[in-house]
Amino acid sequence: MPADPSRARPRVVVTRKLPEAVETRLRELFEVELNVDDRPMERDALAEAMGRADVLVPTLGDRIDAGLLARAGPDLKLIANYGAGVDHIDVETARRRGILVSNTPGVLTEDTADMTMALILAVPRRLMEGARLMAEDAWTGWAPSAMAGRRITGKRLGILGMGRIGQAVARRARAFGLSIHYHNRRRLHAEIEAGLEASYWESLDQMLARVDILSVNCPHTPATFHLLSARRLQLMKPTAYIVNTSRGEVIDENALARQLEAGRLAGAGLDVFEREPAVNPRLRGKDNVLLLPHMGSATEEGRLEMGEKVIINVKTFADGHRPPDLVVPAML
Ligand code: DGY
Repeated sequence: MPADPSRARPRVVVTRKLPEAVETRLRELFEVELNVDDRPMERDALAEAMGRADVLVPTLGDRIDAGLLARAGPDLKLIANYGAGVDHIDVETARRRGILVSNTPGVLTEDTADMTMALILAVPRRLMEGARLMAEDAWTGWAPSAMAGRRITGKRLGILGMGRIGQAVARRARAFGLSIHYHNRRRLHAEIEAGLEASYWESLDQMLARVDILSVNCPHTPATFHLLSARRLQLMKPTAYIVNTSRGEVIDENALARQLEAGRLAGAGLDVFEREPAVNPRLRGKDNVLLLPHMGSATEEGRLEMGEKVIINVKTFADGHRPPDLVVPAML
């Protein structure tokens, strides 16, 4: 696949440090440039990498917009993203410039759903407050009135975005006695919906007004940016909780902070933020807000499998075929 026939193997530039086994395999298969220091690449360094690569392996945090794509070299033909979300890549401009984009779906579904469930349990049951009490050696003993949170069983869970991860959350949540409600661009097939015992809400507004816990599991696209706007957040019950393991941009964070400060929402569990790694200061320091550093898919097994997916995509492409995890603008 390299345009220059004197180079037998494609030049693959990887922007962040990947698991050892993945890097070893990449070295065996390709002419690879690794980022062993794991320092995020500045924009110019990224542009230079795109100028010399046949394949770029970026990840979350590498903003590959139209300006950067305009600086890509003639050999760059594939951007094989290490990660499922591709909202940091201008996929449409890449397509117009003849550059394919692939991602790593599927392998982080269960891990992300586990983390979502952890937040669904942790916030209403006040896990962070309890843990802090113990860490500060401030516990004075059991008391009938102490640390009372809200029961999970019997509550309504609303899932915004019923793709792979949303469905994996639904499967877990049913086992905890939650009833499942969802809003999605497309309604699920009847058998899948029945299997999950999930109720479809065509109107997001109506669903928001009725759920006790909302889980955000849709990708960030132009259509979902601030989907949870101030107006929509105000539709939610003051006793409701929100958890987000998808993308921060789906929620208007300032509006969320205002609702929490005014006591018009009961709490939030957030693994993702609008301007990562910056965290809106208004979300910090609240007993009812659990913040995590975008670690929903962070398991050793998951990171290896993500690497394997990248390798399959690059190798398939280098062998002259369509990468199995191609992202096309119509999917977004
Ligand atoms: C992804 O793959 O998009 C995740 O958010 C990274 O953990």
